[in-house]
Amino acid sequence: MPDVKARIAVFVSGGGTNLQALIDAQQSGIIKSGEIVLVVASNPGAYALTRAEKAGIDGVVAFKKELGSQEAFEAKIIESLDEYNIDFIILAGFMSILSENFTSRYPNRIINVHPALIPSFCGKGYYGLRVHEEALKYGVKVTGATVHFVNEIPDGGEIIAQKAVYIEEGDTPEILQRRVMEQAEWKLLPEAAEMVSKRILKERGII
Ligand code: GAR
Repeated sequence: MPDVKARIAVFVSGGGTNLQALIDAQQSGIIKSGEIVLVVASNPGAYALTRAEKAGIDGVVAFKKELGSQEAFEAKIIESLDEYNIDFIILAGFMSILSENFTSRYPNRIINVHPALIPSFCGKGYYGLRVHEEALKYGVKVTGATVHFVNEIPDGGEIIAQKAVYIEEGDTPEILQRRVMEQAEWKLLPEAAEMVSKRILKERGII
């Protein structure tokens, strides 16, 4: 295991089950080239902040409503990222869109998990339960999750990994959401986190 690790910030907005999967993967050694040192929440009520605290990880809140503008929101986040010397950002259920001004600062250094097989059911307006509602409404038989790099196009960056999940009879959006998380998101995201962390260390000549 390398002594130096990529310093990771995880961005969250809600329950934080993907954050939990990342924390667990760090503890079990699936993630060994990176370390989560900061959790950034877009919402002060996010349960993900409690998960971070329980794991001994610092949390900060950037609440757009309170900060007043996209610029002020992103400036607050950037300030925290600089303070913690962050190398790599993981969007794990982060429900705010980041502007090009933000994403262009971290090329190939931001990844996101999306609960569908991109390019289906993605882009502006497709987030959380809504994605599963639309998949069921359309009547697709297979859905899944995607981990991708983040650029200025919502859900438009290079795909890193995808996993298919079958729709079953009687599925509700909630049941489907849970199956996609269990079978795809909670596995793909930690694996991608390790892959990108390792790449960062290699680029720096550390490993
Ligand atoms: C997850 O399903 C994640 O893929 C999705 O929101 C949920 C958050 O759950 N993200 C998006 O829709 C982003 N466009 P969590 O807070 O329990 O990880």
